[in-house]
Amino acid sequence: MFLPSIVVACLLPLQVVASVTIRKTGRGPTGYEVDFRYVNKTAERVLIGGGIQPFTDQFHTTGTSYRFNGRYDPHDYQPGDFYVSNPSPQLPAEPLYKWPYDMTSSDDGVWTYTAPLPSGIYSFAYLVNCNYAPNCSIDTGHLVIDPDLPPFQNVQGDQVASSFQVPFDAKFQASPELNTNFDYALDAPKGHRGVVRTANYTSPGSIHPAPDVHDFSIYLPAEYGTIPGKKYPLLYLSHGAGGNGADWENLGRMSHIMDNLIRLKHIPPTVVVTPSFYNLDPSGGKFIYGNKSHSVPVPPAPHVRQNFEKYLFPWIESHYQVCQNASCRAFAGLSMGGVLAYEMYVNATDQFDYYGMFSPATNGPYIDAASVAANPGLMRKGIMVAYGLYDFVFPQARELQTALDGVGVRYLNRVTPFGSHYWNTWQDELWWFGVRVLWKPLPFGVRTGRGRDL
Ligand SMILES: *[C@@H]1O[C@H](CO)[C@@H](O)[C@H](O)[C@H]1NC(C)=O
Ligand SMILES: *[C@@H]1O[C@H](CO)[C@@H](O)[C@H](O)[C@H]1NC(C)=O
Ligand SMILES: *[C@@H]1O[C@H](CO)[C@@H](O)[C@H](O)[C@H]1NC(C)=O
Ligand SMILES: *[C@@H]1O[C@H](CO)[C@@H](O)[C@H](O)[C@H]1NC(C)=O
Ligand SMILES: *[C@@H]1O[C@H](CO)[C@@H](O)[C@H](O)[C@H]1NC(C)=O
Ligand SMILES: *[C@@H]1O[C@H](CO)[C@@H](O)[C@H](O)[C@H]1NC(C)=O
Repeated sequence: MFLPSIVVACLLPLQVVASVTIRKTGRGPTGYEVDFRYVNKTAERVLIGGGIQPFTDQFHTTGTSYRFNGRYDPHDYQPGDFYVSNPSPQLPAEPLYKWPYDMTSSDDGVWTYTAPLPSGIYSFAYLVNCNYAPNCSIDTGHLVIDPDLPPFQNVQGDQVASSFQVPFDAKFQASPELNTNFDYALDAPKGHRGVVRTANYTSPGSIHPAPDVHDFSIYLPAEYGTIPGKKYPLLYLSHGAGGNGADWENLGRMSHIMDNLIRLKHIPPTVVVTPSFYNLDPSGGKFIYGNKSHSVPVPPAPHVRQNFEKYLFPWIESHYQVCQNASCRAFAGLSMGGVLAYEMYVNATDQFDYYGMFSPATNGPYIDAASVAANPGLMRKGIMVAYGLYDFVFPQARELQTALDGVGVRYLNRVTPFGSHYWNTWQDELWWFGVRVLWKPLPFGVRTGRGRDL
């Protein structure tokens, strides 16, 4: 398989000191080791946190109780282990539970930590002089973002973690009960890589990143711009509560997943826009990324929809070579972004033919026979509802499915078998949305997604 770019960086001239090195070891427990290196002469203790999650396995995890999670140290990795986000109850403080990502220092202030890690994406930041990782965030002043591996973001402060993706090694990670190969999110080979960048647009009322200026990120496939006049299918892909438009790339490697979906001919070249739904206007207060002591409400989905319809969608159509009709437009999102996707489905039905509700935090009211009678387009869409087996929105997602079943809407379903409410789940959901759903012929039937429809 192809190596992640961070490894390549280490092979460059010596003065380039990558702070995170991913090494193929050819030995267990995972076949890869990751070295973290951070220089701080005054720090007294440094933990690695900022998105690193504890490991568990299928036999110690349920969707209802996190108390019995394995919480394995990565050095104890066994095939079939995966990580889950751990919302409640929190990990007990030390000494009951020792956070495994504890760096050691030499006299010259060089902090290091090495761990075998399995395939997947890891987001992290250094927690300086912190004694309980789950409680240390940007607002407690303990969090330092890796200076050598800056996050993908528009303006500084838009993201509070860096990330890297570890490859799969079948010799050590293949498991009889669970496939945890995330190599579809590694760099595609050269010639197949699109570009991803952050961008601003004019959005009257916006309070971030500047007055009347709002932000999104955009993925343009490798082919984009090489064929005069060609317009591309367009996927809008939303973040969830507490996030922004840079999340899908910084925390989920959306561009690599798209490159590989296109390269392997699961979908034709497609443009992806990841919008930001906070700070569209001053109502609700200013959202500051990662600041847990300053919480602002998630803006209501109809409010976001109307704002996007007014400012974002026309901007994208007039600035990029994207298609201009519903048949080649999709809207998907995770968690509260899944709620937004549902809002688009119900109230912007004519704008999109494909919808992805990933780990949707929907809570009704849902469509019924009367909605369908008033808006028959609801029956002719390409929909996927996806969620993790250990996802805390599992009940909501099932309720949404029950409502769709109740009116006879045909949708595709993905239950991510290692899935909690986190980025490994959303990578998996985006991948399968591309493989099975995106741009497949309508209306959906029992053959949809069973062959390559391209
Ligand atoms: C080093 O740690 C101190 C706390 O002792 C912190 O204030 C400072 O920002 C850190 N410096 C760097 C370069 O990360
Ligand atoms: C962590 O934060 C929670 C919620 O603020 C608090 O109840 C708990 O005591 C804290 N734990 C530690 C070890 O500081
Ligand atoms: C977006 O606007 C902000 C505020 O003016 C600026 O700092 C940032 O660099 C802009 N981003 C891009 C991609 O132009
Ligand atoms: C986080 O929010 C608190 C409360 O509003 C504020 O006092 C603090 O300055 C904020 N910190 C950062 C880093 O934004
Ligand atoms: C969106 O659709 C739902 C269901 O039909 C409806 O209750 C709601 O009022 C709509 N929102 C707006 C802003 O029209
Ligand atoms: C929609 O756009 C696509 C791509 O631009 C085009 O191939 C298709 O003919 C259009 N369909 C309609 C109904 O306009």
